[in-house]
Amino acid sequence: MRSLLFVLLCLGVATPQAESMPYREYDALEEYAPSVRGDMWLSGTYRLWADPGRLDWRMAGNPEDNWKLNWKFMDPPFNQTVHGGHFALDRGEELFRALNAKGRFAACLGARQGRLKGLRTGYPRYHAQLRRIVGLEEAIELCAARQGRELQNGSYDNSAVSLFLASKSQGMPIRIQVDKGPMQQAYARGRKLFHMRTGRSNMACSSCHTHRIGLKLRNVAVTTPYGDVAHFPVYRTRFQLQSLQLRFVECNLDSGTQPLRPGSSAYTDLEVFLTALSNGYPVSVPSERH
Ligand code: HEC
Repeated sequence: MRSLLFVLLCLGVATPQAESMPYREYDALEEYAPSVRGDMWLSGTYRLWADPGRLDWRMAGNPEDNWKLNWKFMDPPFNQTVHGGHFALDRGEELFRALNAKGRFAACLGARQGRLKGLRTGYPRYHAQLRRIVGLEEAIELCAARQGRELQNGSYDNSAVSLFLASKSQGMPIRIQVDKGPMQQAYARGRKLFHMRTGRSNMACSSCHTHRIGLKLRNVAVTTPYGDVAHFPVYRTRFQLQSLQLRFVECNLDSGTQPLRPGSSAYTDLEVFLTALSNGYPVSVPSERH
């Protein structure tokens, strides 16, 4: 009994101390430039992809693996055959037309005079009515709900509509502004989250996407944080159609972290961060991954 009391006392003493010392471990915070014209040599990859002969083998640690780093620029010539992404595109168009019969859906998404061209390149964006930032898939869910249609963020149909909208911006550079206001705050939060260690493996996104670039994990080469956003949603042979935030779910699961719901504020902050790092990269859909 006495020893039990002793243990309890010790715990009692230890608890307030532990509470006063909340901590989070971060990977070293890199200063990413939110533009491909930034100062880090890796941020200039788009320039290099325009002329693959200039790709720097240091990026992959192995010249033969270079093409796997940010291979979206290889997408159109790389796989010209039909893959599931093309079917998803058709499905997305069909759903979009049904929802947009009176032009309300496009207007709700922020298309000026119904023009879809370039719409994808400005997401995520601040939503004045909701007073928060939303990604394109979340906006699709919200705008469909206004018409009584359920298109849950992360579902095949939601991502298909997103893919269709992205195709209307094919080849156009991603262009979001993160230099002021709520978008700047989201960028800063996203950057911090990207470096925050979580889960049973105590890994941050950057543990892989900064320190293991080009190295193989589960037999796929880890990409840089630049430019990936431009080819989402992707068709994945294992998961059918994957939105960017579903990719976060998969990476969280792979590295032993409890994933969040697509549309959660933390994922949207991460999306803002990664989208800003993809500024200047051309939208490239439909793309395929294994
Ligand atoms: C354990 C290492 C690891 C961690 C930690 C990790 N990822 Fe990944 N990530 C990968 C691998 C491996 C791939 C697959 C590359 C591919 O499919 O081309 C990938 C793919 C991605 C892609 C898509 C790349 C593409 O070209 O399609 C994105 C975006 C991404 N991760 C973001 C994140 C974010 C955000 C986090 C943190 C929440 C994260 N990852 C954490 C290993 C990791």
